[in-house]
Amino acid sequence: MKLTPEEQDMLDGKNGKAVRKSMEILSTLGEIFEAERMVDVCSVQIAGVSYANLGEAGLEFLSEMAEDGKVKVLTTLNPAGMDRENWRALGIDEGFAKNQIRVIDAFAKMGIITTCSCTPYLIGNVPHFGQHIAWAESSAVCYANSVIGARTNREGGPSALASALTGKTPKYGYHLNENRHGQVLVKVNAHIKGTDGFGVLGKAIGDRLIKLGKNIPLITGISSASVEELKSFCASIATYGGTALFHMEGITPEFYGYPKPSGEVFEINQEDLEKARSELVDSGLEVDFVSIGCPQASISEIEKIASLLKGKKVKKEFWITTARPIKRMADEAGYSKIIEDAGAKFAADTCCVVAPIKGRFKGMMVDSAKACYYGRASNKSKVKIGTIVECVEEAMK
Ligand code: F3S
Repeated sequence: MKLTPEEQDMLDGKNGKAVRKSMEILSTLGEIFEAERMVDVCSVQIAGVSYANLGEAGLEFLSEMAEDGKVKVLTTLNPAGMDRENWRALGIDEGFAKNQIRVIDAFAKMGIITTCSCTPYLIGNVPHFGQHIAWAESSAVCYANSVIGARTNREGGPSALASALTGKTPKYGYHLNENRHGQVLVKVNAHIKGTDGFGVLGKAIGDRLIKLGKNIPLITGISSASVEELKSFCASIATYGGTALFHMEGITPEFYGYPKPSGEVFEINQEDLEKARSELVDSGLEVDFVSIGCPQASISEIEKIASLLKGKKVKKEFWITTARPIKRMADEAGYSKIIEDAGAKFAADTCCVVAPIKGRFKGMMVDSAKACYYGRASNKSKVKIGTIVECVEEAMK
């Protein structure tokens, strides 16, 4: 691939060790994917923040990069393994907390904003249509590409960090218009609503896409979708279908931007949705944990939870996972007090999947299809999906 003189200097180590290592990562990726050149990025989102996933080897890599690495563009962080202020109340082990803080400190040393959120687009890391970015975190990548119309591949932790330290990414994949065309037409013949409903739809479509070996659907039949419904859909279709980009008629900006795919069409009917929903409810489940906020909750979702919990008490462990800036808004609006007075807990900076709670709960109820997948796979818990109202009611039983 062709590097500019500035990029060649980076590769030659003229800008320090971390930049050299970063450019090595990016140019190797570029060679593998046959990129002709690099492109400047204006925003980065880094995943792989939980110490539970990184371990000592990951921390060592970060510490090495932090010796002389400094970010060149706005860079935010995915959820960590714990609430940085409230980890004791959430039952997080002290040894884990110490290591998690070491990880976050290494990121902070590089100038990364330690937001610990998978919804950077809700808290100020918001690219606009057509901008090139380098994001990790599959749900946020899908949201940025599809709903915003920014351009990003599905980065891993090291490649996203490399882009943050250089301001570059190899121009291949979703950075090129020719790779953003819809590949299969999907007709939805049902009314979809709620974060759970859009999560179920994401699973129904994602499962079909996997069987077809396609991953960019052109979806029709959705009359409206809120930001919260879209974030749930993005998380789900990315999880079940490996999708990093979809187009939705009347909802996303590039639906009419490319020729329609010829040939491939499938329909999603009410029966498909019922089947997908039934697959997100385990038999013999006894709920002892309820969590809302996958992807992390917006201020509207928190307002809704507060209105449902006002003057009531929960009887089960109930986490609301969100970004800390959103939690601060909830504090100011008085929602946090209502929620905490009811006995529910905020888990800011983290989520029910990246927190080290494997084996701690037997049955988890959520409004998110993605959380069902990882609740089973990572937490080894039985799972059940429901609406936000049903989740809150379950927590009070
Ligand atoms: Fe975010 Fe955790 Fe779900 S990172 S998308 S809340 S699994």
